[in-house]
Amino acid sequence: MNQIMDGKKISNEIKNEIKQEVSELKEKGIEPTLAVVLVGEDPASKIYVSNKKKACEYVGIRSLSYLLPKETTEEELLSLVQTLNNREDIHGILVQLPLPSHIQEEKVIMSIDPKKDVDGFHPINVGALSIGKKAFLPCTPAGIIELLKRSDISIEGKHCVVIGRSNIVGKPISMLLLRENGTVTVCHSKTVNLKELCQQGDIIVAAIGKANFITADMIKPGAVLIDVGINRLENGKLCGDIDFNDCKDKVSAITPVPGGVGPMTIAMLLYNCVLGARQQGEE
Ligand code: GUN
Repeated sequence: MNQIMDGKKISNEIKNEIKQEVSELKEKGIEPTLAVVLVGEDPASKIYVSNKKKACEYVGIRSLSYLLPKETTEEELLSLVQTLNNREDIHGILVQLPLPSHIQEEKVIMSIDPKKDVDGFHPINVGALSIGKKAFLPCTPAGIIELLKRSDISIEGKHCVVIGRSNIVGKPISMLLLRENGTVTVCHSKTVNLKELCQQGDIIVAAIGKANFITADMIKPGAVLIDVGINRLENGKLCGDIDFNDCKDKVSAITPVPGGVGPMTIAMLLYNCVLGARQQGEE
């Protein structure tokens, strides 16, 4: 029987666990607080930020919004981050990406206090992940691992084929699958024998950004397919990087889009906020 991994249901279970933890922290006098910074009017970013804020509200995390005009200078943004770094009542800082082109993302990410970097994008956290030390894990990769674990799919010894090498998904999910004792192949736009490599994958993570890219002829029977893509078709519908209808009868498990990886990303953000609050509260 092939399994459709229900990210929405699993993320709700996690959110309810986090809700409990938040109320325990509040009893100790700590109110977990996330600062969310959005520069400009990118419609997709606005939806993501609004979903993150709603999820915070659901579990009882206080969220503070900083909605800045697209003309905001790099200096102004860096100065806001500095203020948020210094505020003891703020435990997590999230600067929504992408930023307008006149602002260097790397500079902004580097300016966030690693102890408040709930996205796990700061080089200190990236480095800690790569050598297996405790760190904030980036939310989408952490969500994928949690989704596999809670769906009773083991990673150990499996051939994991990751397609995409971004700093947000491809590279960190490769590190995490390796940490879980998977054997990892990372493919990207310059990979020549992509189809053959995909056909060898026990677990395939697709983070390409091309609608319905992975088709049934590219996978082996019984593979586990994880779809990180969110693509909008001309008819306005959302679809992933995996052709779900084409692949669904050949796999042992597959994530839908929407309702697969997306909700897990948000659950992990909440998890990181609580972790930050707990760690800073104990200092
Ligand atoms: N843009 C797309 N995904 C993300 C994410 O996980 N965090 C932030 N800050 N921006 C994003």
